[in-house]
Amino acid sequence: MNWTDPTTLTVTCGRGCAGALRRELAALGHPEARDFTPTAVGVEGDLREALKLNLWLRSANRVLFEVAAFRVRTPDELYAAATTLPWEEWLAPGAPFHVHGDAEAPGLRDPRFALLRCKDAIADRFVRKTGARPDSQSDPDGAACIALHWRDGVARLHLDTSGVPLSRRGYRLRPWIAPLRENLAAAILLESGWDPAEDAFAGPMCGSGTLAIEAAWMAMRRAPGLHRESYAFQRLRDWPADAWRGLLDAARRRCLPLPAVPIAASDVDSRAVEIARDNAERAGVARHIAFGVADFRRAPVPRAPGLVAMNPEYGERMGLEERLAPLYAAIGDDLKTRCAGLRAAVISGNPELAKRIGLRPSRRIPMWNGPIECRLLLYDLYAGTRDPRLIRKHAGGDDA
Ligand SMILES: C[S@@+](CC[C@H](N)C(=O)[O-])C[C@H]1O[C@@H](n2cnc3c(N)ncnc32)[C@H](O)[C@@H]1O
Repeated sequence: MNWTDPTTLTVTCGRGCAGALRRELAALGHPEARDFTPTAVGVEGDLREALKLNLWLRSANRVLFEVAAFRVRTPDELYAAATTLPWEEWLAPGAPFHVHGDAEAPGLRDPRFALLRCKDAIADRFVRKTGARPDSQSDPDGAACIALHWRDGVARLHLDTSGVPLSRRGYRLRPWIAPLRENLAAAILLESGWDPAEDAFAGPMCGSGTLAIEAAWMAMRRAPGLHRESYAFQRLRDWPADAWRGLLDAARRRCLPLPAVPIAASDVDSRAVEIARDNAERAGVARHIAFGVADFRRAPVPRAPGLVAMNPEYGERMGLEERLAPLYAAIGDDLKTRCAGLRAAVISGNPELAKRIGLRPSRRIPMWNGPIECRLLLYDLYAGTRDPRLIRKHAGGDDA
C-alpha cells in the first residue's frame, strides 16, 4: 500500500452527531461526505488526509482507513480473506496490535469470535512472512489498531488511524458527575449555530467544564488534536511523520492567542468549578475562561449575541425526577427573563423534565449521551417577551 493512494476514510461519531460531523468535514474540504450508518460518515482521502482529520475534527470518534472489503459468510472465510492482506507491510515492526469492531452474520453468535479470527489472521500472516508473532492487546492505547465492520455479507477491514477515541482529548483527568464526552460537547456547540468568532459563550452549569473548554478551543481556532500525544497511525510502517509535523506547525500558527469572544463557566458547586478550572488549566485555557461559583439564576449573562448552554441532570434515578422539576422550570424562567436576545442550548435525556422549561425550542435534535437518548433543545430567545415563539410557560404541553 502506498500511503498516498486514496481510499475510503470512514469517520465514526456518537449517535446524533453525524450532522455536525458532516458540516465539519465539508469545512475541511469534503463536501462529498456520505452517511454510511447513523454513526459513520465516509469521505475519500489518503493517509495524510486521515492525519489532518485526526487533528482537526471536533465531533468525531475515530478515522478509519479502509484497506479491503470482502464478501464472506463465515468467520473462517473472514480468516482466509484477512490472511491475504500484507499486514507486515502496513504495521510497524515490533508494534503490538489491537482489533476492534462489529460483526453481524448468519450463525455468528458472538461478534467477538469474528474479531478473534481477524486477530489470528493478522498474527499468522506475520509469522508466515517475518517469522515473528506480534503481540496483540485488548487496549487500543499504544497499539496499531485494526477495525472490522462486517454487515450484509461484506467485511470491511480498516487501519484505525485514531486508536483511542478522539473524544479523549487528554485534558479531562478529574471526574465530576455525568460529564459530557468532549466530542459530544463540541457537537452541541456546532449544532447550536454558535459563531465562535462573534458570539459570547456562557455555561452556567459547567460541571467539569467540558462545554466551556471546547468553546474556548473553538474560539481560539485551536485544533482539538494538538493536545494529544499518541495516535494509532504512529504505529503504521513508514507513516508520514514529516507531513504530521507540517500539519501540527500549521495548526499552531492558526491558533489565536486568545478566544475571539468572552467565555464564562460557573456552577453552584465550588468543587465542580475547581475541577473545571483544573481541566481548563490542562487544556491551556484557564486564563481565558471567566470562572465563578453561582446559582445559574445569578450567573452573569453574556451580552448579545451569545449562547447559553446547559447540561442539567436528567434524574434517571428514581425519585430524582420530582426533585429536578423545579430546576427545569427555573431554567425556563431564567432564559425568559434574563437572556432575551441570546440563544440557548439545553441537552436533556428526560422529556418530561424538558417540558418543564416551558419554552418552544426552535430545533430539537436527537443526540445520545452514551446510552441515554437525549434531545438537544435550541432556543432563540428573541428580545421582547411577546414574541409568539417564545413562551408557553409551565404549560406542561408537548413542547419538548
Ligand atoms: C450533569 S452536570 C454537568 C456536566 C458537564 N456538562 C460536564 O461535562 O462535566 C450538571 C451540573 O449542574 C450543576 N447545577 C445543578 N443545579 C445548579 C444550579 N442551580 N445552578 C448552577 N449549577 C447547578 C451541578 O452542580 C452539576 O455540576
